[in-house]
Parts: sequence; C-alpha cells; structure tokens
Amino acid sequence: EQVENKPVRVWCDGCFDMVHFGHANSLRQAKALGHYLVVGIHTDEEIAKHKGPPVFTEEERSKMVKAIKWVDEVVEGAPYVTNLETLDQHNCDFCVHGDDITVTADGVDTYHLVKKANRYKEVKRTEGISTTDVVSRMLLMTRQHFYKGDKEYEVEKEHSSVMGQDKAARSPWTGCSQFLPTTKKIIQFSEGIEPKPTDKVVYVAGAFDIFHVGHLDFLEKAHQHGNFLIVGLHTDPVVNQYKGLNYPIMNLHERVLSVLACKYVSEVVIGAPYSVTADLMKHFHVDVVCHGKTPVKMDINGEDPYALPKLMNKFVIVDSENNMTTEKIVERIIINRLEF
Ligand code: CTP
Ligand code: C5P
Repeated sequence: EQVENKPVRVWCDGCFDMVHFGHANSLRQAKALGHYLVVGIHTDEEIAKHKGPPVFTEEERSKMVKAIKWVDEVVEGAPYVTNLETLDQHNCDFCVHGDDITVTADGVDTYHLVKKANRYKEVKRTEGISTTDVVSRMLLMTRQHFYKGDKEYEVEKEHSSVMGQDKAARSPWTGCSQFLPTTKKIIQFSEGIEPKPTDKVVYVAGAFDIFHVGHLDFLEKAHQHGNFLIVGLHTDPVVNQYKGLNYPIMNLHERVLSVLACKYVSEVVIGAPYSVTADLMKHFHVDVVCHGKTPVKMDINGEDPYALPKLMNKFVIVDSENNMTTEKIVERIIINRLEF
C-alpha cells in the first residue's frame, strides 16, 4: 500500500549492452510510472552465461545508463533473475520491463518472482530497434567493406545520391532500420525548454553515430563550459561524405533520439550545417563552440568548419579523455562475433 506523499520508487534491470534509444524509451516510460528510477545492471559474467558475452563492460554499460535523463540511480551487479530481496534492498515498489519475454540459459522467465508477487509492470517495447539490429547493420557494412575492396568509393557515391532524394526514412546504409520516427517521440524525449537570457549557450556538432561513452564524456565536458548545451547533428549524406563506407550506422532520426536522451543535452539541431555559420551562431545565441580532440575534417571547400567561431574567439577544444570511436565499436563487434 502506498503511503501518501511517499515517492514511488521504480526498479528496472537489464544488460544495457550498446545502449540505444529503445532502452532509453523503456526507462522513460518506467520513470513515468513513479517518481524515482533505480536501474540494475547485470554483470559481464551473468550476461555471458545467459546470452553471450556483452560488447561493453559493466563499467561502460553502467556509465551509459547513468547518463540517461530519466535515470536517478544505477546499481551494478543486479541479479539476472530479479528477486524481491533486491527490490526491497533498494526500497523499490515494483519492477518494470518491456513487453518481451526474457529467459535465463535454462529457459526460466527472469521476472517470474516479481510477477508472482504482483510487483511487476510492463511498458511497450520500442519497435524497429535492438542491439541485434544494430550489430547486423555493422556486419553488413564490414561485408561490403571487405568484399568490395577498392570499389568502396562507388558504393559511397551511389548511396549519397539516393539519400539526397530522401527515400522515406529508410537509409540505404542502415538498410535494416525499421524505426519510424514521429514528432510525438521527439517531443517525449525533448526537454522543451529554452535558454534563459542569462544562460551561457554551448554548441557542438557532429555525427554522434552509435552514441557511445566517448560521446558521453565529451558532452559532459562540453556542458561544463556553459549551462545550455545544443548539439547539432549532421544529415546522413553529410556524414557519409566525410566518413565514407556505410556510415552512418544510425540514421539522423535515431541519432536525434539517442542524443536527446542524454542528460547533458538541452536541445538538438536536426540536420545542422557541416560548418558553423554566422546565422547559426546568431540564431541560437551561441557563446562557445566546442569540439573534442578527434581530428576535424575540412569542409567541401577545404576550409575549417570551425573557422568562424575561432575567428570570434569562441572556440574551445575539449578533452574527453576517452578514445572510444564508432569505428572501435564496429571492431569490437567483429571480434566478439568471431569468438562465436
Ligand atoms: N527495450 C525496449 N525496446 C527495445 C529494446 C529494449 O523497450 N527496442 C527494453 C527491454 O524490454 C528492457 C530494457 O529495454 O526492459 C533493457 O533491457 P535489456 O536486457 O538491455 O534489453 P534487450 O531486450 O536485451 O535489448 P536488445 O534487444 O536491444 O538487446
Ligand atoms: O565523431 P563525432 O562527430 O561523432 O564526434 C562528435 C564530438 O565528440 C566531436 O567533437 C568529437 O571530437 C567528440 N569526441 C570526443 N571523444 C571521443 C569521441 C568523440 O571528444 N572519444
């Protein structure tokens, strides 16, 4: 029974390997069922035992979940089969999970204990996104990368031109993406706040493809240079132009949601220009523009995309102290797969 005024504490748990906006959306819905959200993360050993080794370590997975704006607390080493003792230990009223069945290696429903005790609630799983899907997109890419050899450039050119015509939301690179974005979802993920006149506005731009711990550390540092962080996301054709191959793995709409789910981000510019323009600086009242220590590719005219903010003395290099890249994730996936 709920005592009046007592905040409702919600428990969620999972693997949260390669955290994506589907995970974020389940945590958003879970938080809405109460006031305080505690998320349990399974250990690397337990995940390996029940569904195969994770791509990211417990430390990395936990850090990613902690940065999701609806999460209040993260508990590492949560048991694979959720039990009442764990819920009680963290004062959680009930447990929330997506409407898909998860089982142990022995086929036991991981939520059978909390279900029996009537301390289990379900939220709708986000369709069109899963870790498996993201992994197959990456494998699709490497297959073309390896087998087409020096034909890569042709593939890339063809893709960009198709993308320019914007054939629905289906990116030719992320061929298996079935995610259908709606304005409703964007609104649900968005803060919906405007900067106060006294706020110091920080602007960063990039691909933010397969949002990862490197991005996260970068955004945390960039956000410390002000108090309203705007992230500009380049379109799929622009990202493909400077990254080549089958990048981006996640299409623009998916990247929007992943970045919006991050607690340091106040606003996202959907399809930001590659070079920071005077119009953009003025329109968003940008005080500081940040970029990480990763190399900056020149624009199509061979010019520095940060030339303007540098000239205005509003450019800062931020050290994320993290060397994770989207390419490294792809590498890890391949190694992880080869082991099986
Ligand atoms: N989840 C969701 N929508 C998705 C993917 C996951 O709502 N598209 C939810 C799951 O139902 C679960 C939570 O996210 O409640 C995190 O659990 P995890 O064990 O990491 O999810 P998986 O189902 O393994 O996610 P994936 O299939 O993407 O690996
Ligand atoms: O490569 P991408 O465009 O996604 O990077 C977005 C921003 O994150 C860039 O400013 C980049 O320098 C920064 N970053 C970082 N550390 C990493 C990865 C990215 O500072 N490990």
